[in-house]
Amino acid sequence: MYSRIIGTGGYLPEKILTNQDLESMVDTSDEWIRTRTGITQRHIAAEDQMASDLALEASRKAIAASGIRPNEIDLIIVATTTPDMVFPSTACILQHKLGIANGPAFDVQAVCSGFIYALATADMFVSSGKCRNALVVGTEVYSRIIDWNDRSTCVLFGDGAGAVILTQDQQPGILSSHLHANGSYSQILAVPGNISAGKIQGKPFITMEGNTVFKFAVKVLEEAVHEALDANQLQPSDIDWLIPHQANIRIISSTAKKLGISPEKVVTTVAQHGNTSAASVPLALDIAVRDGRVQSGHNVVLEGVGGGFTWGSVLIRW
Ligand code: ACO
Repeated sequence: MYSRIIGTGGYLPEKILTNQDLESMVDTSDEWIRTRTGITQRHIAAEDQMASDLALEASRKAIAASGIRPNEIDLIIVATTTPDMVFPSTACILQHKLGIANGPAFDVQAVCSGFIYALATADMFVSSGKCRNALVVGTEVYSRIIDWNDRSTCVLFGDGAGAVILTQDQQPGILSSHLHANGSYSQILAVPGNISAGKIQGKPFITMEGNTVFKFAVKVLEEAVHEALDANQLQPSDIDWLIPHQANIRIISSTAKKLGISPEKVVTTVAQHGNTSAASVPLALDIAVRDGRVQSGHNVVLEGVGGGFTWGSVLIRW
């Protein structure tokens, strides 16, 4: 038994923040941002929009595309670093907003690898027969954990959500998944604050060693693709679509170059979305499915890397 994606959905908040807008907020330039990151704009959630609201919009689209009814969903996994509350989980809040109940619902926290972790976990539930239809979501409101006075981080991130419906099938589907973590790198990318004695203690905003993150990301993203291909006895030339985490166009291009994969086979959204963390891979997948690039029979590699550090891949025969 396998699990197979039968519907995708994405949602981006209405408000767009361009590089030109950022020029009036911090000491930066459109030219610096574009040449260092490839980003030209990002979407920002309205004040009253929480991660579960973005997730709800993306989930509704994925459910509609899949043709199943919401009450046929018997598992919800939400990947997010910016949950609505400390608890209950954003997955439980989303479940209620969808008007369903009873199946398991929980969050995974693996930062920018979150959707890969969530999809790999859902695959184990569905392919083992424990659940029949899983809703898997990556949703983020990073605008809430950004120091808008810190030019080294505020230009990089955006808000959004992406979702998929995963169902049981005799045919693949997901062929393999691989997850990794190395906590010794926890300090190079973090929001170090925590809640204690009724207050946030420490910094509640993203802190990052940009250069170290860059090098680490390129290294593990290349390794993750090789690991996925080796497990399925495939070569880089067998990949129809590589959909990597969208952090920076230079990280994506370096990874593709090292793997010998042509840029035409790599789905990129970072220019329009910025880095939407756990939402970046399902948003990019949804766009490539809806515009007809991803077709039945294609080999699609999804991969992520993020704080923790965490990284991993899911290889899909579409
Ligand atoms: N505008 C203008 N100048 C800036 C800005 C900005 N927004 N940000 C930093 N600078 C300046 C720095 O202060 C520095 O100035 P100095 O030389 O006078 O000290 C100069 O630009 C160069 O800074 P570097 O950090 O060396 O620039 P670099 O070429 O490494 O690019 C960047 C920085 C884009 C952050 C890069 O390191 C990067 O992309 N790293 C990966 C980070 C990432 O993607 N994080 C996302 C989360 S992790 C993940 O998703 C995997």
